[in-house]
Amino acid sequence: MTNKDEPSRHLQRRRLRGENAMNLGNLIHSSLPRLAPARSNSSFRDNGCENAAAIEARNVNFSISTRQGATVPILTDCSLTVPSGQLWMLLGPNGCGKSTLLRILAGLLTPTNGKVYVKRPKNYVFQNPDHQVVMPTVEADVAFGLGKSGFTSMEVRSKVLKALDAVGMSDYMQRPIQTLSGGQKQRVAIAGALAEACKVLLLDELTTFLDESDQIGVIRAVKNCLEKSEEVTALWVTHRLEELEYADGAIYMEDGKVIKRGDPMRIMNFIRAKQSSYSNQINS
Ligand SMILES: Nc1ncnc2c1ncn2[C@@H]1O[C@H](COP(=O)(O)OP(=O)(O)O)[C@@H](O)[C@H]1O
Ligand SMILES: [Mg+2]
Repeated sequence: MTNKDEPSRHLQRRRLRGENAMNLGNLIHSSLPRLAPARSNSSFRDNGCENAAAIEARNVNFSISTRQGATVPILTDCSLTVPSGQLWMLLGPNGCGKSTLLRILAGLLTPTNGKVYVKRPKNYVFQNPDHQVVMPTVEADVAFGLGKSGFTSMEVRSKVLKALDAVGMSDYMQRPIQTLSGGQKQRVAIAGALAEACKVLLLDELTTFLDESDQIGVIRAVKNCLEKSEEVTALWVTHRLEELEYADGAIYMEDGKVIKRGDPMRIMNFIRAKQSSYSNQINS
């Protein structure tokens, strides 16, 4: 295979559109096994200070043009700040624009207007675990992005091991990819990003297709990455309310707009209140 033909993770993933069906009623709350709590909910800060932010969006708008020539707004004046070293979650009903916003932050889409700052290197991980991994073995997949960086094979191996260790997959180095569970594939994809010294992880509904044990494995892997390196920041799109327990901060979107951002428990209560008023309306 020539270099030109080499599949890049981004290109592979760009071809994919793995949207899930979700509405407000599908924002799920169940209980997960306990992990260490979020770094500290009291460490939540949204001070708008650009120096402390790893991710910043200011008044981002995004619209598409239909074949008939009409302009359809998808995102309207979206602003958010994610402080460096923290895990933030982005929630909202199906179709409210979460993936579009995440793709803009990843640089896969260009906003119609507004300002975006994301620390580099950054990496976007897609929802479907089968779309994450491109090589036959775990080691080859994690080493994939290091191919052209001029490292010796010893250096590559050491970076791969360190990254796999961060996601709890170092015992799987020689395993064929097709023998892994969905969550393990997601963790390998995250390790690939870490091996490339990624500073910002943009994670789009990674736990949608996973069972509970895989789900907890992926959250643990992300939290562990952040604990091992204060330089890594993550923005995690989810529809599972119980995952908010592990977040340092959260953002709630509706209809292309950021409605609320801040402390995860406040956001959880806000969504629960919306859900219960929605159920009351249906019942009455
Ligand atoms: N390329 C596109 N063409 C037409 N509509 C799109 C396109 N991308 C996204 N949309 C629409 O934009 C809205 C937001 O989509 P998306 O960002 O995927 O939402 P979410 O991730 O919150 O489910 C949806 O109504 C979706 O149908
Ligand atoms: Mg989406």
